[in-house]
Amino acid sequence: MTATPTIYITRKIPDAGIARLRDRYEVVVRDQKLPPSKAHVVRRLAELDADGLVCLLSDTVDAEVLDASSDLSVVSTFSVGYDHIDLNAAFERDIAVGHTPGVLTETTADLAWALLMTCARRTVEGHAYVEADEWETWGPTLLTGPDVHGAALGIIGLGNIGTATARRAAGFEMEVRYSGRSRKRDREAELADVGVSATYVDRGELLAESDFVSLHVPLVESTEGLIGASELRQMPDESILLNTSRGGVVDSDALDTALEEGWIARAGLDVTDPEPLPGDHPLLRHAPERLVVTPHTGSASIGTRNRMAEMVAACTEAGIEGEPLPHSAVQDAGLR
Ligand code: DGY
Repeated sequence: MTATPTIYITRKIPDAGIARLRDRYEVVVRDQKLPPSKAHVVRRLAELDADGLVCLLSDTVDAEVLDASSDLSVVSTFSVGYDHIDLNAAFERDIAVGHTPGVLTETTADLAWALLMTCARRTVEGHAYVEADEWETWGPTLLTGPDVHGAALGIIGLGNIGTATARRAAGFEMEVRYSGRSRKRDREAELADVGVSATYVDRGELLAESDFVSLHVPLVESTEGLIGASELRQMPDESILLNTSRGGVVDSDALDTALEEGWIARAGLDVTDPEPLPGDHPLLRHAPERLVVTPHTGSASIGTRNRMAEMVAACTEAGIEGEPLPHSAVQDAGLR
């Protein structure tokens, strides 16, 4: 009789996913708030002779992890991003890699807009002002910010989340531009259907002519530090930078200088470099007047996190059973 496959889960994910896996497999969940060290994951995979690993974006999955159990046939990450996984190493070892695109698109676009509105209309500052008991009277210029309606929105990376963010501009009659490796006529048509005319421009033009620049690229070699000093200098003084992609896409030191010297007006970040951003990080001296930071909660709606858990379970199950994964990161990255 063959043994029941074992799945190791590095931290508790919503029950929907765990219950589905428990129906068929031995499931071991590490029930701790903080991420495990890589050495811990390697040790547990080896001890369990694990067949599957469910990880989070805070876990590094490299060759050492992939070699920890000779039975390992699938790694599924509870995230759309897979920059924490060495896909080439997985591909070489014929280990399937699942991820969770699609289900978090709209929720992450909602958060990009939450940051956009917060930075423009200074709501976090307003709250702090009231809480500090500084609200003495109505003020003609109190906490004024730029208009959102009619402004120019620049999207860098018109993938699923970039498109969903652009689509939301319809209600605000914004001018939308996008840049990326190539023009995306299918995305333009999809946006035109909801009344958003998105113009493909080069990155320099987008930076120079947008009131809001929103980043939606994956973190790969070519996007690391994509927004550095020279890019920030190209943005108008009154513009606002939004990042819901990966912290490493923005050079944090350059952003610090840009906020200090007023090259741009404000930034709204859901992702940071380093991540987590320590409470004493120099960037935080700009908060809340020039900087608003959320703790990588782009996909954090209850429904979306449940759907991510179900998808991660479906990917794991398919990998264990030797079936095609609903979403293969190896395929989506163009390796296969
Ligand atoms: C992802 O899934 O990659 C997001 O960044 C977190 O939900």
